[in-house]
Amino acid sequence: MQFFAPTHVYLEKNCVDNHKQELLSYGKRAFIITGKHSSAVNGSLADVLAVLDETSVPYLIYNDIEENPSVETVAKAAAEGKEFQADFVIGIGGGSPLDAAKAIALLIANPQEDACCLYEPKDLKALPVIAIPTTCGTGSEVTPNAVLTRHAFKTKKSISYNIYPELALVDGKYLASANGRLLIHTAVDALAHCVESRLHAKANVYNHMFSEYGLSLWGQLVPVLEQIAAGPDAVPSSLSDEDLEAFMLASTVAGMAIAQTTTSLPHAISYEITYNHGVPHGKACGIFLAAYMDEYARNNPEDVNRVLSLLGFDSTESFGEYLRRLLGSVAITEEESNLYADNIMANASKLSTYPFPIDREAILRILTCSLDVTA
Ligand SMILES: [Fe+2]
Repeated sequence: MQFFAPTHVYLEKNCVDNHKQELLSYGKRAFIITGKHSSAVNGSLADVLAVLDETSVPYLIYNDIEENPSVETVAKAAAEGKEFQADFVIGIGGGSPLDAAKAIALLIANPQEDACCLYEPKDLKALPVIAIPTTCGTGSEVTPNAVLTRHAFKTKKSISYNIYPELALVDGKYLASANGRLLIHTAVDALAHCVESRLHAKANVYNHMFSEYGLSLWGQLVPVLEQIAAGPDAVPSSLSDEDLEAFMLASTVAGMAIAQTTTSLPHAISYEITYNHGVPHGKACGIFLAAYMDEYARNNPEDVNRVLSLLGFDSTESFGEYLRRLLGSVAITEEESNLYADNIMANASKLSTYPFPIDREAILRILTCSLDVTA
């Protein structure tokens, strides 16, 4: 049994400004990795630039990270970072910029390598990474993982290196300007992290501390999310600073859980749905949770009941109905569901995260019970 969580994490209001000295201690030339719009709108980019401007630290901003960033995007950004001679990387945003920041930090630190090294078993180290999450799902600020889109393989996969951010600065205020639907999808991603980590081949008492606490935190957010789902174009102004911080806390705790175990089958299947149908990550994971738990309960109903009770549900059926109300549905064809089942069965490392024998029929059951499958 082991436990490893090396990231220095702060979660509080005005976190970036409060810890600017520590942020600046990781380098002298900052490469900022973010998406096109949200970090400019929610104030996170301005908070970081204020610190760098105040201390005259040179920086370069790369703000062209797409959702589900590709290996090609990461390589392009890294080339700019190398030319700028960046010596630390600041990722700001949701999972996409944070994961991209880790891969970019690896490529800048190893200029002799090209992007092929991201999926090779080499002994490479990355530049220091600072992570500033502005959504409440990824957990990337405390995990070693960086999931990228591999167009050559038509799917997403985590790179072959463990890159923990040195520092995570977490502030609920960045959620205030979020679209309600984004908040739902990212919060459900955090839920999936807790469920999959708790029901995982590597689950142990250390990670239970995080997955079970994350599930109980998430249980308190169940009615809040239902309220947001009723008018998902904006986060209701009725949400307090404490509510927003609770979403961030649940996300970070869920990240700490998967940092010990990795995710499991719902995430593996979700990559097919995201890549081929454009379904946002959190939704693509959340729609499979209830059916995954039904499958798991065939072998271990006690652990599934534990998850349900922490969340405040009395059955996987009521849990699944709740998630459908939040997320809506996804339709695929029977041919696609067969293809995705084959792809999952070929993914030995993901199958090994499931603690019991599992066959193609079980994967197909998870797919067909979760999705609207047409002939
Ligand atoms: Fe996820």
